[in-house]
Amino acid sequence: PAELRELLLSRITDIPDHPQPGVVFKDITPLLADPAAFGALTEAFAELCGRHRVDKIVGLEARGFILAAPVAVRAGVGFVPVRKAGKLPGTTLGQAYELEYGTAEIEIHADALAPGDRVLVIDDVLATGGTADASLQLIRRAGAEVAGLAVLLELGFLAGRQRLEPGLKGAPLEAL
Ligand code: PRP
Ligand code: HPA
Repeated sequence: PAELRELLLSRITDIPDHPQPGVVFKDITPLLADPAAFGALTEAFAELCGRHRVDKIVGLEARGFILAAPVAVRAGVGFVPVRKAGKLPGTTLGQAYELEYGTAEIEIHADALAPGDRVLVIDDVLATGGTADASLQLIRRAGAEVAGLAVLLELGFLAGRQRLEPGLKGAPLEAL
């Protein structure tokens, strides 16, 4: 709803020239510091879990962890981390993806998801969509089903939604 959207937007600030000149960085730390806004965000994500019959939540390192973990507790479903390569201790599946310059890799524990699990991916910001797209591939390779992708903020001018369309295979992309 419009009120939620206004509340959330009022708690996200613009930081010019971070992390490099010419970039206007969207900073969500004021939202995290406001329990009313953080609580409303958590409720809105948790509501998606019911609507899309989700039974696992995947959070994307690092800010995705902060948003996804309380949603998992609220919705009563398990939390599974997708981390930057080299951080998870067990047997992992890895997925490389393109950055503006060079590549990066994310990983999931190979046994974290069960066949038939319906997984909701949560992150803070959808920018180019590279990170989210790689996470969808990991979830499918781990044998589970993508129930949807939910983000707080979508930077529409970077066209992440278009990049993600093939990878979503019809699953919903919800930007609050
Ligand atoms: C940011 C953001 C998303 C991703 C979006 O994370 O939190 O995960 O980039 O960009 P993309 O859509 O172009 O892939 P970052 O890699 O900066 O990691 P952090 O959360 O650990 O700071
Ligand atoms: N804010 C937070 N995370 C991001 C941004 C941003 O503006 N761009 C890419 N990841």
